[in-house]
Amino acid sequence: MSENEEIWEQVARYRKVKTLPDGSRLLLRPLQKGDKEALVDLFARASREDLEWYRIDAADPKVVESWVDNLNYRQVFPLVAFVNDRLIGEATLHFGEHYHRHLAWVRIFLDKNYRRQGIGTLMVQSLIEIARRVGLRQLYGEIVTTQPQVIQGFLDMGFQHEVTLRDYFITSEGETLDMAILVLRLVDDTGKF
Ligand SMILES: CC(C)(COP(=O)(O)OP(=O)(O)OC[C@H]1O[C@@H](n2cnc3c(N)ncnc32)[C@H](O)[C@@H]1OP(=O)(O)O)[C@@H](O)C(=O)NCCC(=O)NCCS
Repeated sequence: MSENEEIWEQVARYRKVKTLPDGSRLLLRPLQKGDKEALVDLFARASREDLEWYRIDAADPKVVESWVDNLNYRQVFPLVAFVNDRLIGEATLHFGEHYHRHLAWVRIFLDKNYRRQGIGTLMVQSLIEIARRVGLRQLYGEIVTTQPQVIQGFLDMGFQHEVTLRDYFITSEGETLDMAILVLRLVDDTGKF
């Protein structure tokens, strides 16, 4: 097996376990085929507001099922969170291709009842670890500026607010929003030509 294949085998077996402050057990691991129903259910209970941030209609079970059916960790790496065996969140790395092959975009969604307990931070930190292992150089987060608390969460994890794209996002109501582009540099290129 090549070194590269070994790395991908390793990340496919990634696990992180933690006891939450209330004593419940948190497990983070890559999404597997058998999680289809639980993932559909996660998005089915998401609010309309939360679903705005998705590029496609994640409330449609067919859309979520297709993510599981087309699972390919080298294109999209989905990490899922279980609390006491219930799937309560998903965070994904979307890998760039060709001249973007050194980067990935991070997206994350948690069940409303499980927010503000540090799970989101732990999931993004896990994706950062995985991104390093597979040799990425940069991670990007795209967050609308109407969510300053989420932007702050990313800044606290070491991301930098690179630029804001005006009116980059349009809501279902037709209102445009500004998008903050956040970057985490995994290798330091300073001083290099
Ligand atoms: C963004 C999201 C994943 C955060 O998950 P989380 O588990 O609640 O985050 P954490 O508990 O690790 O909090 C991390 C930090 O984020 C910030 N934060 C997140 N939500 C916040 C809120 N509602 N109010 C204030 N601060 C908030 C805080 O700085 C927080 O740190 P603190 O708890 O020490 O104050 C979750 O709110 C979510 O799924 N939102 C909907 C989808 C979304 O907006 N995704 C982001 C775009 S990719």
